[in-house]
This record gives sequence, C-alpha cells and structure tokens, in this order.
Amino acid sequence: MNLNSMRQDMWNEAYGRRGNIVFYPNEEIVRFLNRYVRKRTGISDFMDIMPLEASEWRNFASLDIGCGIGRHIKLLDEFGLNPHGIDLSSEAIAEGRKWMGVLDKQELADRMLVASVTDLPYEDDFFNICVSHSVLDCMPRDTARKGLQEAFRVLKKNGLMYLDFYMDDTKGDMDEEVLSGFDKGTVKSYFTVPGIKELIGGRGSICELKIIRATDADGNAIEYGCRAHVIVRKNV
Ligand SMILES: C[S@@+](CC[C@H](N)C(=O)[O-])C[C@H]1O[C@@H](n2cnc3c(N)ncnc32)[C@H](O)[C@@H]1O
Repeated sequence: MNLNSMRQDMWNEAYGRRGNIVFYPNEEIVRFLNRYVRKRTGISDFMDIMPLEASEWRNFASLDIGCGIGRHIKLLDEFGLNPHGIDLSSEAIAEGRKWMGVLDKQELADRMLVASVTDLPYEDDFFNICVSHSVLDCMPRDTARKGLQEAFRVLKKNGLMYLDFYMDDTKGDMDEEVLSGFDKGTVKSYFTVPGIKELIGGRGSICELKIIRATDADGNAIEYGCRAHVIVRKNV
C-alpha cells in the first residue's frame, strides 16, 4: 500500500465517523469572496470585484482543494464562479456527489474528483481562484508543500488563493499524528507566521493574513482554536 492510499484510508475512516461532514460554508471563505472576488449585493445581484475583462469573467473557473463533501463548491456555485473540487477521500467525494445530486446540480457532482493535492488533474494556469479550507494543515508539511506548488501551477497569474493554517504558540512549526477524535490517524501540522511565509515562498504575495484565536473564559488557548487565514495573489 503506498502512502497516498494509506492516508486516503485514514481520511475515509475519519469521514466514516461523520465528524467532517459539514454543510455550511466557513465565514472566512464567504468574506474572501465578497471582499476580493465578487460581492453579493442583492437577492440576484452581484458586483464583480476582481479586475478582470468581460471575457475572463465568462471563462472564470474556481477550485476547492480538499473540498470534503463540497460545502464551498456549493457556495462558489451560488456566486456563479464555476467551481471544481478535489479531495483525497473517496468517501467525502461520494457523499458530496450524492448531495449535489439531491440539490439537482449534477454538473457540480461531475466536477468533484478523487485526487491528491500533490497531483492536481488540471492544466497549468486554469483557475482564477483557489480555496482550501482546513486542508494544508491536515496533512504532513511536505505534502502541503507539494500541494501548494500544484495549487500555484493550476492558478492563473494574479489569481487569488484562500488558505488557512492551524497555529499553536506552544508547538511552533511541527507535524503530529492525531491520536483521538474523529480525525484519529490523520496528521495535523501547525504553523507560525514565518512558517506560513516560508511555505508560500516567492510564488505569491500575501494580501491579507488574519489570525483568529478562540480561548476559554480565562483566556487559555483551546485545542485547534487558533488559525491563520491567508489570502495570496500569485506573482508569476
Ligand atoms: C478538515 S477536512 C476539510 C474539508 C473541507 N475543506 C471543508 O472545509 O469542509 C480536511 C480535508 O482534507 C482532505 N485531504 C487530506 N489530505 C489530502 C490530500 N493529500 N489531497 C487532497 N485532499 C486531502 C481530507 O480528505 C479532508 O476532506
């Protein structure tokens, strides 16, 4: 069994425990779209924010990397952003395709693929935006590094990417196996701001880096309670 299929088994088991079945979008992705890409201004009205020509808007495509059951694919579709998605877990993709079928969105189901971040099944410079929520920190750092390289490959120049990363002041930049809970057996990686900058390297410029920290009532850190939300523009 190769490493990818071993990790796929772990993620399939995690989806079997149902903890990662999430239907509603993360608010930072909603904010990213409204602020940087296309703002919803009415029930059926949108205002384009990304400075693209009309022909570029007509061919616009977006990608959700590590899409899970597709909650952000549904959101990207509501914004008219022609979404595609990949995930390593065949269980997640099967559940997501079923959901898109129930929503009468067969075209979205068809664009949800089982694949690894390390080998994205798309041509170079294809997507205008990529989103990847709670994914690059849910794998070993080396895999995330290759994944980000792939994300930059498929993103158009000046394309935008939304990413987020776990942070924990006591851990710094490190990877660890999850020993309990619904993600048991998977790997989580923790990042510092310099670690995030190093991972992104010179291929992109950070437009925004926002750290959201949840604590208990006494101000003590909560496990998995701190994340950096990062918006990156591809340079080259
Ligand atoms: C915490 S879940 C987040 C899912 C989804 N982005 C969301 O926000 O609902 C992490 C996801 O990363 C996927 N994943 C882990 N390693 C991967 C890899 N190498 N390639 C693609 N997806 C991967 C898992 O299968 C899982 O769906």
